[in-house]
Amino acid sequence: MHLPDRILMGPGPSDVHPAVLRAMSAPLLGHLDPDFLPILDEINDQLRQLFRTSNRVTFPVSATGSAGMEAVVVNLVEPGDTVVVGVKGVFGSRMAEVARRAGATVHTVEAPWGNAIDPQTFIDAVHRHEPVLAGLVHAETSTGVHQPVADIGAALAGTDTLFALDCVTSLAGVDVRIDDWHIDAAYAGTQKCLSVPPGLSPVTFSDAAIERVRNRSTPVQSWYLDLTLLLGYLDAEGGRTYHHTAPISMLYGLHAGLDLVLSEGLDARVARHERLGRMLHDGLASLGLPLLAEAGHRLPQLTTVGLPEGVDEAKWRTRLQDEHGIEVGGGLGEFAGRAWRIGLMGHSCQERNVLLVLEAIERLLSAR
Ligand SMILES: Cc1ncc(COP(=O)(O)O)c(C=O)c1O
Repeated sequence: MHLPDRILMGPGPSDVHPAVLRAMSAPLLGHLDPDFLPILDEINDQLRQLFRTSNRVTFPVSATGSAGMEAVVVNLVEPGDTVVVGVKGVFGSRMAEVARRAGATVHTVEAPWGNAIDPQTFIDAVHRHEPVLAGLVHAETSTGVHQPVADIGAALAGTDTLFALDCVTSLAGVDVRIDDWHIDAAYAGTQKCLSVPPGLSPVTFSDAAIERVRNRSTPVQSWYLDLTLLLGYLDAEGGRTYHHTAPISMLYGLHAGLDLVLSEGLDARVARHERLGRMLHDGLASLGLPLLAEAGHRLPQLTTVGLPEGVDEAKWRTRLQDEHGIEVGGGLGEFAGRAWRIGLMGHSCQERNVLLVLEAIERLLSAR
């Protein structure tokens, strides 16, 4: 196995802290071992702190962020239900597609690539369609847009619509406040601002969401993601019955990664992303490159930047990797072939990385 040295500055995975890698190499315990179960409970407590929620049902789904998305949708939606999804990039489209496949009638509220969805337009659509579920992507990784959600949550609170938020790229990178924003269901990923390898999807469900699941008239379409079954293992009150074999080593890694986040402090971590994201944005602008996310809604941890006319995007990306050891992502969708996505997530979000990538881009530009 040949593993070149890389600095991971793409849209995820991000660089993993050595403490996480060390934790993942620890000897296994069985997933029903009485010495393992408290570790699981600690992870769930740590996740509640990150999500800023008191939701009892908060745990890592045993698969990547897309499984968290599916878990939210398939548990809260029954065939024939109405769902409203905000689409401003690839991951909003994915949420809409997952809801369609769960049998929902889906109405989308769209914004042009690079823009946030106007909160009032979204609220109006929810009032018009009265869906069982309204979903938004908080940090749209395909465009670098930071979606405002607090006003939407406040407007939907007390209605029959459950509000779901994709926090895959936002958790531990920008402010996430599940309870304050009246979010009923949220999912994240480990490989972005948590800087743990891909493989788990932290999720959280409000009591209202759990009640919805318990009152379904049809079984959850996915056996693996059925919350009512999962809770039998996750929850001590469920008797810790076997559901599936928990991915022990990934959970060790997540525990270590969450420890790192909490010892840095959530506010300090968000401030670090904010400061270095701004430094990257200013640096790119001073190189004459356009930032593609609208001003005022730019994510610090994921920057979409346009490349000069005539540049072969894929070739330059390969050169950045081969000559400088830096991985960035290519543009997706409308930005394909003409933009890069530069990540500053978690352990990758360091000043020296900002300086390295800016210098490398400057060299590519001046050697044109
Ligand atoms: C915003 C967002 N949602 C969902 C996903 C899907 O997560 P995964 O690739 O871990 O399945 C991603 C992955 O990049 C993402 O950025």
